Amino acid sequence: MWKPKIDWNSDVPIFRLLLQAIADDVASGELVSGDRLPASRDLADLLGVARGTVAKAFVEAERLGLVQCDVGRGTFVLPRDQGARPYASLIEGPTALSDLTANLPLAGLDPDPASALEVLAHRPDRHLLFRYHAPAGALRHRQAGALWLERLGVSTKSDQVLVCAGAQHAIFVALALLRRRSKILYAEELSYPGLHSIRETLRMELVPVAMDSDGLDPTALARAIRRHGSGAIYLMPTIHNPTGAVLPAERREAIARLARQHDCSIIEDDANRLLAASPPDSFWHLAPERTFLVASVSKILSPGLRIGYLLAPASDQASLLRHLWATHWMAGPLNAEIVAMWIEDGTVDRTIVAKRAEAKRRQSLTRSVLSGLWVEAHPTSLHAWIHLPSRLDGARALAATTDRGVVGTPAAAFWTRPTPAPNALRIALASVPRRADLKRALVRLAEATTNSR
Ligand SMILES: Cc1ncc(COP(=O)(O)O)c(C=O)c1O
Repeated sequence: MWKPKIDWNSDVPIFRLLLQAIADDVASGELVSGDRLPASRDLADLLGVARGTVAKAFVEAERLGLVQCDVGRGTFVLPRDQGARPYASLIEGPTALSDLTANLPLAGLDPDPASALEVLAHRPDRHLLFRYHAPAGALRHRQAGALWLERLGVSTKSDQVLVCAGAQHAIFVALALLRRRSKILYAEELSYPGLHSIRETLRMELVPVAMDSDGLDPTALARAIRRHGSGAIYLMPTIHNPTGAVLPAERREAIARLARQHDCSIIEDDANRLLAASPPDSFWHLAPERTFLVASVSKILSPGLRIGYLLAPASDQASLLRHLWATHWMAGPLNAEIVAMWIEDGTVDRTIVAKRAEAKRRQSLTRSVLSGLWVEAHPTSLHAWIHLPSRLDGARALAATTDRGVVGTPAAAFWTRPTPAPNALRIALASVPRRADLKRALVRLAEATTNSR
């Protein structure tokens, strides 16, 4: 009987390891066309795993074109030219470290695209998804964007919505436009690392603004604006990355007033907003004439779709269309359509509920395992900001945790000031597939931060 080679010390789910073993043996020629894989029951007994785990690996292997599962007959290896793809496998390799750096959105709860793709495969209009569309997106996909924004508490007409390739792209086009008015970019002193790459590319001058556990401090912003003048204010008011802060309504009002007084624009990055149950109103309600509202499907549906939505002042629409055209012509219509279908059939709303619930469970697990540390986080967000003991600076913490096989992102990745970064670490709670894996990683993190000298 064929026996898969599995690294039992790996953190990767068993079904993925089994899938990788099939792919490796097909690639090496150990499994050849027509070979019959053991029955899932026999393989499950051999490996000491659930039968469903083996069945899941077989289904994935069939999707990748490695095998064919014939009900009643068994699972057979396909010829390599017909089956195994000539390019590298998409299956992630096993990793020895518990990597808590990537802020992944609970991939295990992402909707499975199989049924949407099957429906699309037979839809009479499917060819339209492979043509050029207008830079703002097809009308149906802008309508889907308006429905997405409705879930953020913003009601808008579809002709105001621009479909982008993720929030990152939406922020880029908004700043590319605003840079022509001023090169000054105000941002929270701890800010999203993706903003740094945009700022560098556009050669804008970043002015860090002090923040506290509620988010950006309007008094500090007022001081900064008096000194540097009009500019773009980029902020993450709802579930700030990395601290999880939610900006209270009064601060939003104060910032909107300042923006109006000094003719600044506001880029509201709401990529994480749908994880929060009832945050205060968006800046769109306070200053629609100067707010660029950025939304994304990445944290709820999946980042690989690369779909985000930008809502911008009406007077900037025409310029933004040119920027969209210049940067990517249009967002992928196939992906935008999948989002539209998932809004229509209720998948989006179900996934929001499921992800919030799982994020909440992971947050309470984190607080209980790291009870000896100061943890800042939103109760339903996918990341946590861990303040380290004073004797452990970022580099030492990184070394100590890496020694124990777990890595987080040091504060320096978010810190925008030239001074030393705070003594803290962001951990992404959804970058490991199972809660049990997270618990193991957190225990090691707790040991690393309490025992190291
Ligand atoms: C605050 C924030 N903005 C934007 C993004 C990028 O989102 P997208 O995948 O839609 O480009 C992220 C991703 O982690 C994020 O945390």
